[in-house]
Amino acid sequence: MNIIKLSATNSTNDYLKTLAAERYVEHLTLVVAEHQLNGRGQRGAQWYAEPGKNLTFSILIKDLLLDINEIFYLNAAVAVSITDTLAHYLSDISIKWPNDILAGNYKIGGILIENSIKNNGEIVSVAGIGLNVNQHNFEGLPKATSMAVVAGHDFDKETIMLAIADNLKRNIAALMHNGSNALWEKYHDKLYRKGIPMPFEKEGQKFMGIIQEVSRTGNLKVTLEDDTTALFGLKEVRLLY
Ligand code: BTN
Repeated sequence: MNIIKLSATNSTNDYLKTLAAERYVEHLTLVVAEHQLNGRGQRGAQWYAEPGKNLTFSILIKDLLLDINEIFYLNAAVAVSITDTLAHYLSDISIKWPNDILAGNYKIGGILIENSIKNNGEIVSVAGIGLNVNQHNFEGLPKATSMAVVAGHDFDKETIMLAIADNLKRNIAALMHNGSNALWEKYHDKLYRKGIPMPFEKEGQKFMGIIQEVSRTGNLKVTLEDDTTALFGLKEVRLLY
């Protein structure tokens, strides 16, 4: 695995995307930065990580034999690779759809996957991972936590990062060679609040629903109070917790 270590960059996703546009970059190349000046999160949000304390890295994924409408498998593979890793150290780790990583009810990590399709139809993806490892101060961030806060001691960041990257390599290979069923089962095993009545919000409206499953294209299947089933798209609905 090719690893590029940076002391600072705007965003490891942006760095890797630019690099891959400029020259040949091999599958599973990883870029990690001690400090991101402009870390990006989902829905246009900023991703803030105390410099030097946490993991902020991106992995280039190429040559996936997936169709663009199967691309959510990659989100699932990344999320499961993180939960597989964290489950060695912490309990109650889950995936909040679509791809937040939680410890208990607190967010410990997030994933930002950016895909592009080349002229020949090849999909090139940059999977960005932000994982709170050794940050202790979450003032102003009441829903966030870190591995160190949960476990009561600091961790070696590189060990965690390499374990996630190894798991991702294994999960992608399994997806390509054995199909998606095992991955799908693992994703659902770790799915936060599955089968439990929960509040949701859509376009400012709050409602109760029960998560049934995630469809293979990444939509959330929810049973509503009137017993009908709704399918929500990736940015359509928010699970309130
Ligand atoms: C989220 O939960 O909103 C997703 C956060 C993703 C953050 C990571 S940190 C490494 C990579 N570079 C970025 O700019 N963002 C992702």
